[in-house]
Amino acid sequence: MAEGQDPSTVMKQQVGKAAADLVKSGSIVGLGTGSTAAFMIQFLGEKLKSGELTDIKGIPTSFQGSVLAKQYGIPLTTLDEVDHIDIAIDGADEVDPHKNLIKGGGAAHTQEKIVDCLAEQFIVVVDGSKIVDKLGTTFLLPVEVVPMAITPVMRKIQQLGGMPTLRMGVKKAGPVVTDNGNLIVDVKYEGGIDDPAGLEQTLNNIPGVVENGLFVGVTDKVLIGEIKDGMPIVREM
Ligand code: A5P
Repeated sequence: MAEGQDPSTVMKQQVGKAAADLVKSGSIVGLGTGSTAAFMIQFLGEKLKSGELTDIKGIPTSFQGSVLAKQYGIPLTTLDEVDHIDIAIDGADEVDPHKNLIKGGGAAHTQEKIVDCLAEQFIVVVDGSKIVDKLGTTFLLPVEVVPMAITPVMRKIQQLGGMPTLRMGVKKAGPVVTDNGNLIVDVKYEGGIDDPAGLEQTLNNIPGVVENGLFVGVTDKVLIGEIKDGMPIVREM
């Protein structure tokens, strides 16, 4: 690793590149959201430009993804125009030993879950800091909520044992508003989440909840970027 480089950025770059290398010409590709997925989108664009990759179409999972895809010259399509997604590549905020995830740090988990779950192959790209023994121990669980339901939904989440906080904007007054026009509640679970599959269903059954950031049983492969002996490496979980 070159002197002065930020290790976290280098790990994200390497794992983003490794994931872009898995994409084959002619594929429909789900384009994830976040700083790690952004490197993957950049590398896909570079491979298209060099001719190493041809005829791919991207389906973005956020406004960020569609802006980046346009910037790097990746043609976009929509779920209305395709009948399948070959591969989706996305970041995560936590990954447990069963490859279950918490996502939504960028408030994009609703569209991410739609696209990632539809993909024939779902690849997760993370740096080593995202690997946990139990979900909910290092990151709060994001829940997207329809604005008019925010008070009853937060009350219900609390009754069910969670500690919800409304996510506030940075360099913007007021709460974060998602790409879908909704709000985000970040929920703390003391001691972590014991039953991710059960909690995913329970939360989504609360009227007013659009989607939560638990991704259970959908990941096919996790690529982890790490620094070993001063060198960036990528390993598969
Ligand atoms: C977006 O809502 C998230 O699910 C991201 O995929 C997740 O937060 C990972 O982002 P980074 O790669 O920036 O850590």
